[in-house]
Amino acid sequence: MNHVLEIVYLIGSISFVLGLKMMGQPDTARKGNLVAAFGMGISVFGTLFLNGDGFNVIPHLGLILAAIALGVVVGTVMAKRVQMTSMPEMVSLFNGMGGLCAALISMIEWRALSGSGELQALGFAHFLPVVAGLVIGTVSFVGSMVAWGKLNGSVGDFRFKGQQFINLLALALILGAGFFTFNSLTSGLATLGFFTTFGLSVVYGLLFVFPIGGADMPVVISLLNSFTGVAAACGGFLYHNNVMLMGGVLVGSAGTILTIVMCQAMNRSLTNVLIGAVGASSGAAATSGGKGGSVREVQATDVAIMMKYAAKVVIVPGYGLAVAQAQHVCHELESLLESEGVDVKYAIHPVAGRMPGHMNVLLAESNVSYDKLVEMEHINPEFGTTDTVLIVGANDVVNPAAKTDPASPIYGMPILDVDQSKQIVVLKRSMKSGYAGIDNELFFNPKCGMLFGDAKDSLQKLVNEIKAL
Ligand code: TAP
Repeated sequence: MNHVLEIVYLIGSISFVLGLKMMGQPDTARKGNLVAAFGMGISVFGTLFLNGDGFNVIPHLGLILAAIALGVVVGTVMAKRVQMTSMPEMVSLFNGMGGLCAALISMIEWRALSGSGELQALGFAHFLPVVAGLVIGTVSFVGSMVAWGKLNGSVGDFRFKGQQFINLLALALILGAGFFTFNSLTSGLATLGFFTTFGLSVVYGLLFVFPIGGADMPVVISLLNSFTGVAAACGGFLYHNNVMLMGGVLVGSAGTILTIVMCQAMNRSLTNVLIGAVGASSGAAATSGGKGGSVREVQATDVAIMMKYAAKVVIVPGYGLAVAQAQHVCHELESLLESEGVDVKYAIHPVAGRMPGHMNVLLAESNVSYDKLVEMEHINPEFGTTDTVLIVGANDVVNPAAKTDPASPIYGMPILDVDQSKQIVVLKRSMKSGYAGIDNELFFNPKCGMLFGDAKDSLQKLVNEIKAL
């Protein structure tokens, strides 16, 4: 291989590692993204122009550049236009494209090598990444498309009796079809085996994500993300391309770690996710059968007094904060309270919002200081010493049913212990449920007051009232 290209790939790989490391901290995340993008940029440049010995252009350069230009235009327009609330859908869509690319690489490799008997000569070590890339890439593509449809509401939950058994059967058939393909490489049946493996992977991708509902989508999205990484790493093996291998391994391992963290945050087991049992009893239509009772409606004036004279206020942001685009006025309220001598913190639940880190990204956009964002396990012991908790558009992440109702779909999921604080105020528009589609008894807690309205309007009223006091 061209030594200059090897050095370029090494720089690319180092940039990925550094970029990923920087993305672990909110204050360096943007730079980290740029560093990783630089690594990808020079790796693509090297692949296109340092092919062979010395400066040598890859074949079909015109077509490749046209495809890159198309991708750049579509990707830039989509990324610029996307609303904060639709980010998870876009992540799913982009992830699916990665999976599709990996599956296409395997198909092209199959077409190039299978007919000539070359694949048989290269042996199982070469066959494995071809078929693994096909299976994992296809599952990731199909699964991500279903997840995209579910997140934007165009695809509903689909379950039937014995679904877990069928999922396991589909996995076993994929393995069987893969081995059959390898054993028939010399016969004409190999292509049939290869495309049967592909077809079964499509079926598994559909079966795997269709039943997942309610609050469990984040786990699946991060798992699909890790699948795409593994599929890309298979491409790196095939082409002996170190930077592709490194990129795939990093995405695969980061996605797997995130999946495990998400599973822990939602008290789900990874095995259940893999065989599609997750959320089987959840879904937007489920209700926890709350006791009902009466809610106490409060006015902005009362809440403003309560907050201004508090020693400590904890703000719990949720999906409604993103919908209302209320992050800037929320920061204004926080600064105002701080200037009045109130200790203000934000309680960050790992799955608040609709994507990992959703609240961190949103609050960072309005320049909230990172040390004010406190993770669930650190803020929970602090609620006992909190005067007022202000819940802004959050629902499932503060639902006590997760602790008290074994029949609830979110039972076992760790929540923010807001009921430990002296006063609770909830900012939302109505009594409607959150993402998991279940009632929330917190709203009927005698300590809880409901300030109904759009979160941005309500926060603005609070700011105005506090200034007027
Ligand atoms: P949710 O439980 O979805 O509750 C959001 C609440 O915000 C709703 O009850 C809604 O009530 C309120 N709201 C919506 N628009 C509003 C507005 N303009 N002004 C004021 N309130 C508004 O949110 P959460 O507590 O953040 O929990 C997140 C849920 O999403 C979890 O179940 C989680 O598992 C799931 N999920 C998370 C992710 C990731 S990775 N974070 C991904 C997918 C799904 P009203 O309609 O009455 O206003």
